[in-house]
Amino acid sequence: MSDFAEKLIAWQQAHGRHDLPWQQTRDPYAIWVSEIMLQQTQVSAVIAYYDRFMQRFPTIASLAEAEQDEVMRYWSGLGYYSRARNLHHAAQTIMREHCGIFPTDFDTIQTLKGIGRSTAAAISVFAFNQRQTILDGNVKRVLARLYAVEGWPGLPDVEKKLWQIAESVLPSQGLPAYVQGLMDFGATLCTRSKPNCHRCPMQASCLAYQQQMVSVLPAPKPR
Ligand code: ADE
Repeated sequence: MSDFAEKLIAWQQAHGRHDLPWQQTRDPYAIWVSEIMLQQTQVSAVIAYYDRFMQRFPTIASLAEAEQDEVMRYWSGLGYYSRARNLHHAAQTIMREHCGIFPTDFDTIQTLKGIGRSTAAAISVFAFNQRQTILDGNVKRVLARLYAVEGWPGLPDVEKKLWQIAESVLPSQGLPAYVQGLMDFGATLCTRSKPNCHRCPMQASCLAYQQQMVSVLPAPKPR
């Protein structure tokens, strides 16, 4: 296992989050809903919406059968409303094309509306314990710092490099703890502003830290 993966899993066990509502299940539908809500919204804001949504729409079938207006009411206040429209649409696709069963194949998951490569990977890891690479905004920041990757991560070449790094540090086992660690580490320690470097188990190997580049990486969008 990479030194990074080993340290991250240990950090997750000691300091990560273990009792979020969507961590108590392996139901791909429940995990899918959580990952969509968490795409652009912080954990603390998501929890109440998630609980209400899952009470009203506990299954793919119940979501697919609902009127779009009602789905939107349950999303009201979370923002980025195309997420809710896509979720509803994808639930209907699953009923129609996948016999109502959430697909387990990684490429098939990505054909569903609103599920990109990183979200498909998160669902595959948490629901099916598959070995897949995630690279969301938080993870891009963590890896850009650790490996001192310069350039705005929205640029195709920079993003490609970050995907390669993300794949190279992926452990062969313990994916759920590793991926949750990556997300929690990015959200709570290796934060965009004022990261907690003195509490970081990766400090000694962090290239941005060594080069005093933590505050300027990842590079902002050029303007
Ligand atoms: N951000 C995206 N997915 C997440 C998850 N499963 N836990 C915490 N933050 C996340």
